[in-house]
Amino acid sequence: MSDQYLTEPALECLLDYARQAALRAYAPYSKFRVGAALKLTNGEIVTGANVENVSYGLTICAERSALVRAVSQFGPEIRIAAVAIANLNKAPSPPCGACRQVLAEFILPEAPVLFPGTAGQRTMLFTDLLPGAFDMKLK
Ligand code: THU
Repeated sequence: MSDQYLTEPALECLLDYARQAALRAYAPYSKFRVGAALKLTNGEIVTGANVENVSYGLTICAERSALVRAVSQFGPEIRIAAVAIANLNKAPSPPCGACRQVLAEFILPEAPVLFPGTAGQRTMLFTDLLPGAFDMKLK
């Protein structure tokens, strides 16, 4: 993993993608519009937005929407080098627990994750966001 993905301008750029993606959210129920952008180790950027459903529990978050799209587009070997999350509601939105577990499947532990925190934009390493993620070591 090259350092280019970790520089400030690169992460700012990724955040712009996340903001653009949030504009495409389908959130008529919560009105909370979220966008996520994934930087892959193959250099590609893949975005996603939350897509709600009238049967509320079927809603998909922006982060998982982006991840499913990335695997569908580039295959199961993808690895995520950085994540940016934005919302249009000027509210904190760290990735939910379910999204953290799903990201864990494909993300590098040291990948930076940018998200709106309670005191402005926040960046955390994935490993600090979900220490001790469930994994299944088959013999
Ligand atoms: N949401 C996300 O897109 N990502 C998260 O990590 C948490 C929540 C969405 C789901 C729902 O459409 C809206 O935000 C309100 O919960």
